[in-house]
Amino acid sequence: MNTNRLSDPLAKALNDQMTNEAHNAQIYLSYAAWASDKGYEGIANFLFRHSNEERNHMMKFLEYILKRGGKVVVTTIPEPGPDPASVNDCFEKVFKSEVENTAKIYKIVDLSLQEKDWATWNFIQWFVKEQTEEETMALDLLAKIKKAGGAKANADALYTLDNDLGKTPDDAVLAQDTSVENP
Ligand code: FEO
Repeated sequence: MNTNRLSDPLAKALNDQMTNEAHNAQIYLSYAAWASDKGYEGIANFLFRHSNEERNHMMKFLEYILKRGGKVVVTTIPEPGPDPASVNDCFEKVFKSEVENTAKIYKIVDLSLQEKDWATWNFIQWFVKEQTEEETMALDLLAKIKKAGGAKANADALYTLDNDLGKTPDDAVLAQDTSVENP
């Protein structure tokens, strides 16, 4: 009896995204190690925590494929790429990587819609919201480094930014969670 509830194209897309999330975790891990090596322990802490979030994303895809009777295919994870050249470069790379990830999530939304696979459509909506949060988080990082002087940020400004990021919560606040009382 066939208990697989995923089409071949969707199973492939979900498996590919599971690997993408593992790749994202490696990217954050490498940036965190880079930041720690440069003495930015607050930034490193923030990035290490975020690497764990990406691994959680990977697990959600893995678990979903299993629960739908599909085959999980664990493959090699691509290398994270070169170290950032500066904190400014690091945050720009984080933003770019999150925007690219959003495009990949949207492709799965499209595919589930085309196939009328409403279970997958429902599952992937969690990631649509999560990507809005991740992009907001990345934009917040860019706003912070811009305030610190961008590519020309001096040691004092970076010191303050580093302290700040060590205490920054994991999740950004979304527009839909604000109100006039709590702007
Ligand atoms: Fe799982 Fe930051 O995307």
